[in-house]
Amino acid sequence: GSCGEGKVFTEEQEALVIKSWSVMKKNAADLAFKFFLKIFEIAPSAQKMFPFLRDSKVPLEQNPKLKPHALNVFTLTCETAVQLRKGGIAAAKETTIKRLGATHLKYDVLDEHFEVTKFALLETIKEGIPEMWSVEMKGAWAEAYDQLVSAIKAEMKP
Ligand code: HEM
Repeated sequence: GSCGEGKVFTEEQEALVIKSWSVMKKNAADLAFKFFLKIFEIAPSAQKMFPFLRDSKVPLEQNPKLKPHALNVFTLTCETAVQLRKGGIAAAKETTIKRLGATHLKYDVLDEHFEVTKFALLETIKEGIPEMWSVEMKGAWAEAYDQLVSAIKAEMKP
């Protein structure tokens, strides 16, 4: 690939991500929500980073602002999988990635947060589509996520 990562994202991997995402899309909001609760279960301290959680009296599970971020991680990872086949994270997305780099730098998102989030994402997919789950499926989503995160991290410069 031309992602500078030396890793190739195969046609099969792309197909797996697209196929599973088209199924999960039907209850994406619900899955995305579970995904974020999982992150905070593993790393409760991560809640402190989100301003709308820090200052909120609403219980975590009822916070309406949690869903958009969770959905964003899902959809952007899926979109990344498609773009990787086209030769890397597309130029059209450059501004998005730059903005994401700036945002996550500002909120002090660290390597370990990206790691916990990866674990939670894969667990959520596993539970969301048990009949489609496989080592290959896991590998495909993991790779797309890793590529997206490395692009974001590359823009997380002060
Ligand atoms: C904000 C995406 C990982 C914490 C955002 C926003 C997007 C986004 C789209 C909205 C603001 C903007 O567009 O600049 C992603 C993606 C991720 C990722 C695609 C991984 C592939 C993480 C992780 C954490 C995190 C691992 C910490 C556990 C935050 C915080 C904000 C934010 C605190 C600001 C508050 C908010 O707007 O929700 N992220 N994010 N993000 N993200 Fe992420």
